[in-house]
Amino acid sequence: MKVITSRENLRHYRSMLLTEGGTVGFVPTMGALHQGHLSLLDAAALVSDHVIVSIFVNPTQFNDPNDLRNYPRNLEKDLALLAGQGKTAAVFAPEVEDIYPEPDLRRFDFGPLEKVMEGAHRPGHFNGVAQVVSKLFNIVEPHKAFFGEKDFQQLAVIRQLVLQEQSKIEIVPCPIIRESDGLAMSSRNVLLSVEERLHAAHISGILFKARELRRTMKVDLLTEWVVRQLNNDPFLKVEYFQIVDDKTLMPVDSWTQSGGKQGCVAVKIGKVRLIDNIKFD
Ligand code: PAF
Repeated sequence: MKVITSRENLRHYRSMLLTEGGTVGFVPTMGALHQGHLSLLDAAALVSDHVIVSIFVNPTQFNDPNDLRNYPRNLEKDLALLAGQGKTAAVFAPEVEDIYPEPDLRRFDFGPLEKVMEGAHRPGHFNGVAQVVSKLFNIVEPHKAFFGEKDFQQLAVIRQLVLQEQSKIEIVPCPIIRESDGLAMSSRNVLLSVEERLHAAHISGILFKARELRRTMKVDLLTEWVVRQLNNDPFLKVEYFQIVDDKTLMPVDSWTQSGGKQGCVAVKIGKVRLIDNIKFD
């Protein structure tokens, strides 16, 4: 497994890999890797000849400087995990100056997709995600790129980015991977105290229960119920819970409305902010 830090070397290595043809699957990450990331790699390795993983904590997508400072980083451990899994051809781990030799002044417009939920609570977040993903796509030039459904809104924004950039890269969504108690795997979980970690499992527990109650409760009542249940736990503070159309991400007001429906939540536990989502079918 090659570890590459400069974009020139990455491009060079990519063309070497592809001298005899084949496809590149790309898994962009911000490191602090866990089983969720490894499941993206598994999915990539299944359908690609070569897998490239990036590890880059992208400063432009953090609207809160403390969040950026505290974001977990452990490159050595990440590299050992990837090497152990044996499916990665190259890891691209650039420095901030390699990705942003000068400030990226691009402003993307994803319309309503970037204005709801995460977009409303983290101003500029999706612009930063789009900046780095479009740069990484230009450097890595993958055939397919793999993203987890835990970041449900990010996935919708990236699909839109690819359309706007008229890119041929196929975006492959991968299911949420959960701990045995249901907590969605996230790099941020390591920031939870032991006590917070126990309470964090209530988030998915309440979402699963909500999915059962869907048959008997209207959308607005179920939404209120979820928020109340979460806030009843003294460790949890809901930022939002919304049941939205799974394509437009616009709020749904009735179960009879056409299209898929997704319940998306953001919760603070102490200083840690977690997101999760669930499909209502
Ligand atoms: O989902 C993430 O880890 C990040 O938002 C991504 C896609 C790697 C961009 O920095």
